This record gives sequence, C-alpha cells and structure tokens, in this order.
Amino acid sequence: MDYRSTVAEGPALSQVNADALLLVLTSDQAVTGDAVLDKLIKDAVAADDFALKAGRALYIHRPAGVKAARLVLLAAADAKPKSYKAAVVKGLAQVKELGAAHVAVASGKGLALSADHAKALALGVADATYVYRHTKPSASKAGALKKVTVVSTQADAAAVKAGLAQGQAVAEGVALGRELGNLPGNYCTPTHLGNEAKRLSREFKHIKAEVLDRRAIEKLGMGSFLSVSNGSAQPPRFIILRYQGAAASQAPVVLVGKGITFDTGGISIKPGAGMDEMKFDMGGAASVLGTFRAVAELKPKINLVGLIPTCENMPSGSSTKPGDVVTSMSGQTIEVLNTDAEGRLILCDALTYAERFKPAAVVDIATLTGACVVALGNVHSGLFSADEQLAGALLEAGQQSLDTAWRMPLDEEYGESLKSNFADLGNVGGREGGAITAAVFLSKFTKAYRWAHLDIAGSAWKSGGAKGGTGRPVGLLTQFILNQAAAGKDAIAPQLAKTAKAQGKATAGKTARKVAGKTARKAPARKAAAKA
Ligand code: BES
Ligand code: MN
Ligand code: ZN
Repeated sequence: MDYRSTVAEGPALSQVNADALLLVLTSDQAVTGDAVLDKLIKDAVAADDFALKAGRALYIHRPAGVKAARLVLLAAADAKPKSYKAAVVKGLAQVKELGAAHVAVASGKGLALSADHAKALALGVADATYVYRHTKPSASKAGALKKVTVVSTQADAAAVKAGLAQGQAVAEGVALGRELGNLPGNYCTPTHLGNEAKRLSREFKHIKAEVLDRRAIEKLGMGSFLSVSNGSAQPPRFIILRYQGAAASQAPVVLVGKGITFDTGGISIKPGAGMDEMKFDMGGAASVLGTFRAVAELKPKINLVGLIPTCENMPSGSSTKPGDVVTSMSGQTIEVLNTDAEGRLILCDALTYAERFKPAAVVDIATLTGACVVALGNVHSGLFSADEQLAGALLEAGQQSLDTAWRMPLDEEYGESLKSNFADLGNVGGREGGAITAAVFLSKFTKAYRWAHLDIAGSAWKSGGAKGGTGRPVGLLTQFILNQAAAGKDAIAPQLAKTAKAQGKATAGKTARKVAGKTARKAPARKAAAKA
C-alpha cells in the first residue's frame, strides 16, 4: 500500500482529488468548513440517512460539487485514534468492492490528527486489505485499492507524515507475523522459521541471524526444549536474532518467542475438534520476527536480541511421556506431568540462554495457555511481571499502539502446585489459575534479569469465520522498543539496570549462578552455559 499525506482545509476539502473520499466526523463538531460537504452532511442527517453515532456510514455516489466520484460519510465515537481507525476501516469496507484505487481520508473539525491517528490509520488499512494467498492463490486480490492519502490541516501535517511512516513499517511487521501464523504447519516448520530469520538478515543489514540445529542445541544443554521435539520428524531449531542500533556496550532488550509450529499435545494428546488452530502456536515466534522487521525499518537507537526455540509437539514412539523427568539448561529438573504444557518447556531454556546477553529487560511472548483465553478472551493479551516499571511500560505501549495487554497477578503462592516428588518442578499446576501457574513456572528461570511475560493465546489469532492470525503483539512490542529508544538516557533499559544495582542485585551472570543454586552444580550442561 502506498500511504501519502496532503494538506487541505476548509473549501479545499470537497476538491480533494481521489477515487473515493472518506470523511470522518465526530458528533461534537460535524462540520468541515467546506460549504458543499457541510450541506451534504446536514441534509443527510435531516433525512435520517446518516447519524453521528459510532459505526454509522453513508455512501454517496457522484455527489454534486465534490471532485471525488465516491463520498463516504463516517461517524466516529470520539476523536481518539482508536475511534478514528474504526471509522476508517468501516469506510474502507464501503468502498472495498468498488473500483477505487485511490482513497483519501479527510476529517471534520472535531478531529485534530496526531501521529498516533496516522499510525492507527496505516495499521487499520493494512489490516483491512490483507489477503492470505500463499496456499490459496485463487483468493481474490486485495481489491483495486493501491493508495491511501490522509488529508490534514497544515498544523497537523508534520505529525501525520511521521505517523504514517511509522505505521507503514509496523504494518509490515504485523503482516509478516500474520502471514507466518496463517501458513499451515506443513509449510511453517521450525526449518522454515529459521529460513525466515536468515531472510530478514539478508534483507536488512542491521539484522543478524544465527540458526542452531539439534546438535548445537544439545551442546547448550537445553534438555527441556529438546524433550518437546522428541516425537517429531521435523528437526528443532534455536534462532538467535540481533539488531544493533546502539553502542555494543548498551544492554539489549531480549524478546523470546514460543515457536511451536504445531501442538498436538504430544502423548497428552488434544481432542480433535479445532486442533488445526494449533498451527498458530508459533504466534510468539512470529511476533518476534515481525517486530524485528518493523524495527529494522525504523532503526531506533537500541539493541535488540530475539530468541526463538522452535519445534513440533507430536506423539510417537520417541515422544516424551507423562512422568518423564528432563533437565533444563538452568540445571533445574522438570517432571513432565502433561506433555501438552510444552510451551513453558521450550521457553525455560531460551530464558536461561537469555542471561548471557546481560539484558536490560527480557520479554517473552507465547500462546501459552487456554486458561488465558478463558480469562481475557481475545481483546487483551495477558501481561505478567513482578516489575512495576517494565509492566507499566508494556501496558502503555499497548494502549498507544491499540494492541493492548491486561496485567495479571504473579504471586509466588500460585507456584505451590508446581511442586513435584521427583523433580525440582512439575510442568503443570492444577486447572485453576492455569495462566498464572504457567507464568510462575517461567519465573523460576528469569531470576537474573528484569522480565515480563505476554500470554497471547487469545490475541494471536481469531477463530470462526474470520479464522486467521492477527500479527499481535507486533504493534505493542514495536511501540515498546521505540519508546525505549526515544527515551534515550531516560529509557527504561538503563534505568532498569540501575534499579537492579540499587536493589543490591549482582550482575546478570552472577545472579543467575546464585539463583540456579545447588542444581547448577549438579548439571554439567549448566557449567557450559555459564562459560559461553
Ligand atoms: N498452545 C497451548 C495453549 C492454547 C490452548 C492456546 C488453546 C490457545 C488455545 C498450550 O501448549 C497448551 O496446550 N496448554 C495447556 C496447558 C495445560 C496442559 C496445563 C492448556 O492450556 O490446556
Ligand atoms: Mn500444548
Ligand atoms: Zn502449545
């Protein structure tokens, strides 16, 4: 999509040159200062053909005195970016099947456009025009739409331009995440995700990618991760992405994404109904790749590391069985009580690996629990963190990008149910509070740094008629990274490191060894990891 911006005010609005003109209005000031348009609005409202209520739209063909052949009047709930985006998406639906190649979006006097409005628009347009075609080339093309121009006042022009550029880059990251999610499991294998990472590193010179195979993963001592891949004919991969936008000495933010390319449940096999949707179980991995794509284009001054443990969870004669005990890279042993709780088993080793980067903060992203879907539905992602600052920054980034998260508890008490008679930890607690016990399980591997966990089981894809990936939470993550970089010296990253010191914590590596405690000495793999 080609995104443009142009300035037009007052009487110039009806003369905007486009195939279709969308006009977004708020109820408090449903006027434009253009006599032709204002009369159209007034007459339409008087005739009860249009009302200034959110969701209402009126299509007018070849309105007299308007240069564009198609005009759509749109009512927004208020002047916020979220409402503006909803109105624009509604307007696009009105002209979608028509021949309009160039749509211009103007707004009434009640709407002062900010960069966030323009960003929201770019994301809304990209969302509304995405078509999955990879294994369905017969799917109708996105339609005639090629170009969207945002019409603003002179005063808003600079912000709109900046917002559009940012929105377009984020939209491309979202689209990558969405496309990878939608790819069927027989296409989107761990090998495929590794190749995607390499492709990104070829396309963007600021990105480096390293893809480890089974032997290399074994060498690292990732016994927990590997135990999940045991039943699969597809070899596992461990992907390491790096983006360097700041001095090498600056502590990076590390993103860890769950990359289960298909989750059958393993020996604790899932019921058949709806199991196809478990191809989306690599949504965390997809969001990390998507965020790297957006970041590589926006080039913020920050360092970023992406870690993706990826494999299939399959039942077979070589699968891990309930009751098996595996040794994680941290040295902690885990009793696999349910092979369907595999996400945490692959993430825990990636979280231990993250220590070596002495990160400013680590955020993991995972389609981790059905319980999180029960708790939050598909509106908010679940956010778990004991770190107020980090949690606050992520929540704020979610609000700003309209890719929201909701904070969930993480009290140690929830971990009681993770006790095992045969290992340091069991991999499941009871049914109650399942999203929280999963998060508490992960927390046992994150003592060396500041950490947050996003459970995106409800937000990463949609079910039913609109079944498909959403590309979430690429918007939230990219916004978080941009905010960190923009804050410069005041960024949470260095601040986090400082706070850690103030609290008397040792450096990442030291803390890790202390935390791993006696189990660390037991496990030879752990020593190798600490050295590397
Ligand atoms: N990938 C699933 C989580 C999931 C389930 C996401 C349904 C979206 C919709 C995860 O690996 C899983 O199977 N979790 C189990 C954990 C349980 C065995 C403790 C679950 O949520 O049922
Ligand atoms: Mn599972
Ligand atoms: Zn899973």
